[in-house]
Amino acid sequence: MIELKNVEKYFYKGEEREVHALNDVNLKIEDGEFSVLTGTSGCGKTTLLNAVGLLDNITSGEIYLDGNELAHLSDEEKTKIRLEKMGFVFQAYNLIPVLSVKENIAFIMRLQGYDSKQIDKRVDELAELLEIKSKLDSLPSLLSGGQQQRVAVARAVATKPKIILADEPTANLDHKNSEALMKMMKELNEKEKITILFASHDDYVVELAKKVIHLKDGKVL
Ligand SMILES: Nc1ncnc2c1ncn2[C@@H]1O[C@H](COP(=O)(O)OP(=O)(O)OP(=O)(O)O)[C@@H](O)[C@H]1O
Ligand SMILES: [Mg+2]
Repeated sequence: MIELKNVEKYFYKGEEREVHALNDVNLKIEDGEFSVLTGTSGCGKTTLLNAVGLLDNITSGEIYLDGNELAHLSDEEKTKIRLEKMGFVFQAYNLIPVLSVKENIAFIMRLQGYDSKQIDKRVDELAELLEIKSKLDSLPSLLSGGQQQRVAVARAVATKPKIILADEPTANLDHKNSEALMKMMKELNEKEKITILFASHDDYVVELAKKVIHLKDGKVL
């Protein structure tokens, strides 16, 4: 379970507090949730995801994962937690262009020392579920946007992290591909009990989530 307590984030310009991006955010994400952060542009969705994902420091407050406080860990400890417990999906798919689809999916598994047999089994399983089986030997540039994003999802979930954080994963996809991606993410959430927290401002994408968290001016409504 993830819990945010009194989380504040200011962006500074020199010494001056320029933007109050997160304003006393208190939030609980239960294990197995499939939740969406929504709100107008600039309300703090990316800032909040980056805080939970330990990609950016918060100004004050606490972030707990299974009872352990994370916000005050060293950079090295944060990197370890990100690698072992979190998976990330971004708006721009961020695949490695010189690696095949299979090697992109396997990337985090290799970093974590899985053997080839485990990798082959997991890649097959995910490729089946995400409907990219025929593309495993291709380079990412030969895939459609929807397919590339599904590869990014496969890579993020390959090691069965505790939580997947996804910032506007459907922003570059058309309606049909967005719906397909959401359906598959929901399937992963249900089958593998992976907690998913994503940001979106598309109404029809928001409707597909099980829980909606509204943000306004850095506050949870
Ligand atoms: N690096 C930064 N420096 C200064 N201000 C920033 C920085 N990053 C974000 N902000 C500001 O913090 C606020 C929240 O931004 P954030 O990117 O979290 O919004 P968002 O909800 O993700 O918006 P969008 O829907 O457009 O992606 C905005 O006012 C933004 O201008
Ligand atoms: Mg954003």
